[in-house]
Amino acid sequence: MDNFTKQLLSWYEAQKRDLPWRREPTPYRVWISEVMLQQTTVPAVAGRFEKWMARFPCIKSLAAAGERDVLLEWEGLGYYQRAARLHAAARSIVSEHDGQLPQDEQLLRRLPGIGPYIASAIRSLAFGKDTVAVDVNVCRVFMRLLALEGAPGESRVRRTVENAAYGILPAGDSSRFNQALMDFGSIICRASRPECDRCFAVANCRAFQEGLQNDIPGKRRKKLEEIETAVAVFLDGDSVYIQKRPRDGLFGGMWEFPGGKVKEKEPVSGAVVREVAEELRVGCRVREKVTSFVHFYTRYKVTLHAFLCSCEDDLPLDDEHRWVEVKSLSRYPMPSANRKLIERIRRRSGT
Ligand code: ADE
Repeated sequence: MDNFTKQLLSWYEAQKRDLPWRREPTPYRVWISEVMLQQTTVPAVAGRFEKWMARFPCIKSLAAAGERDVLLEWEGLGYYQRAARLHAAARSIVSEHDGQLPQDEQLLRRLPGIGPYIASAIRSLAFGKDTVAVDVNVCRVFMRLLALEGAPGESRVRRTVENAAYGILPAGDSSRFNQALMDFGSIICRASRPECDRCFAVANCRAFQEGLQNDIPGKRRKKLEEIETAVAVFLDGDSVYIQKRPRDGLFGGMWEFPGGKVKEKEPVSGAVVREVAEELRVGCRVREKVTSFVHFYTRYKVTLHAFLCSCEDDLPLDDEHRWVEVKSLSRYPMPSANRKLIERIRRRSGT
């Protein structure tokens, strides 16, 4: 066995993290954990994973659930398309694969939301196949070991890293190998401030030897997009009026207050009236300001302004538009800024 692999596996035996999905790595549990972990941190997923499993204990139960329940269980994990794709994939698995995740790479990759990394992770961690699972963290580890220039997303880098990983993959032990690399990338070979002082692999690491550990991979930080939104709060007794977002696109299928982006130089209260007219085809009047606050999503900084509004005409009522009692809003999946607004409405009205 390669020297680095040997050291990595013995380090892993001593240092591995006790994570809920590792305790019983069934194909379903591995799949769900990998989808959750794709854009969400390990501590955040660790706090939610068993709750998901209790709610949807098997693929069949996920396939049989309604869209709203699936989104609700996903709420707060971000990147909500992942939940919609999981749901669609569960339904395909039931209809096409008898409720079992397939082991074949091509069949796995035909399922919604399963790309090359998740397919490899399932094949290795759940089915013990000799395959490497290279995500950005594992890619960073190899980029440092080999002192590769470029970014983890580049196909040239990806190919070099995969070849290197296959070169040292211990046959029959890919699950431990891949998970050891994940833990090593998270505990020692971290994205920022890697712990080279505690690293067993410095003798094998070209980046360390050349003093490049903080420069590989090169930084590529995207600036947050800043958005200003104005929303209308229609109140009728204990109920508020909410609408469902289109299924495709950001926060697809979640519920929200009517409203939208404020245009340049547009007064925020004017934006509410315009958005309500465009979305709901009714004229409304702004009564008073409820609140303004800033909310950060992964890719957006949203400044949200909320106004108490009224309107003479009836607001539309259908599958996508409803009056809902404030105390029942927890049953509706919503982007977090809307939840924050509900908290403020509740505090204001003392409910
Ligand atoms: N990151 C992505 N997949 C992971 C896993 N299975 N365990 C720990 N961290 C991960």
